[in-house]
Amino acid sequence: MKTASRYHPVLVALHWLLAALILAALAVGFFGLAAMPNADPGKIGVLRWHMAGGMLILALMFVRFGVRLLTARPAPANRLAPIVHYSFYVLVVLMVGTGFATALLAGLPDSVFAGSGAPLPKSFAAYPTWVAHFYVATLLIGFIVLHVLAALYHQFVQRNGLLQQIGFGRRSVPG
Ligand code: HEM
Repeated sequence: MKTASRYHPVLVALHWLLAALILAALAVGFFGLAAMPNADPGKIGVLRWHMAGGMLILALMFVRFGVRLLTARPAPANRLAPIVHYSFYVLVVLMVGTGFATALLAGLPDSVFAGSGAPLPKSFAAYPTWVAHFYVATLLIGFIVLHVLAALYHQFVQRNGLLQQIGFGRRSVPG
């Protein structure tokens, strides 16, 4: 695969959209859902946004992965970068998988999306898939911190203009 001076504009757009959506899903999870008792009547509405948003994230990650395979992109900035970048795809699949499995075990498709009126279970803590959802979310935050620190290091310490690669602008793909 040829290398390019920047990522394809579709990948740039999806990178920033997914960054916002993933941070929003984490914030809603840790500061919204985790802080709400399951007896709170408003929790089903928050779960609806969280679950739908999580599934949208997965769909967009698949699109991004496909476009990534088909387009020229910049060479990795260091040897760790490809590992961290591929880990994001794996972690998102695990987040959605564990969230989806928890939802199925707890009968959420009926109560959250079909308006069955059934109450939420007393707590999600009894489901091992929920415990995994929590730990994978914590790991995902660790990878996001590493990813942001590495980008800032390249941009401001090494001053190699790395952030331009994930921005819009003239893109050259040397033959
Ligand atoms: C990238 C996608 C996702 C992220 C980053 C994410 C993140 C989180 C976080 C941080 C929590 C709080 C954990 C805690 O209680 O400490 C949570 C809870 C939860 N998530 Fe997700 N999630 C994602 C996708 C999904 C999906 C697709 C579903 C279901 C279809 C789902 C279902 C749930 C459920 C049922 C809970 C438990 C609510 C509670 O803690 O009371 N999540 N999620």
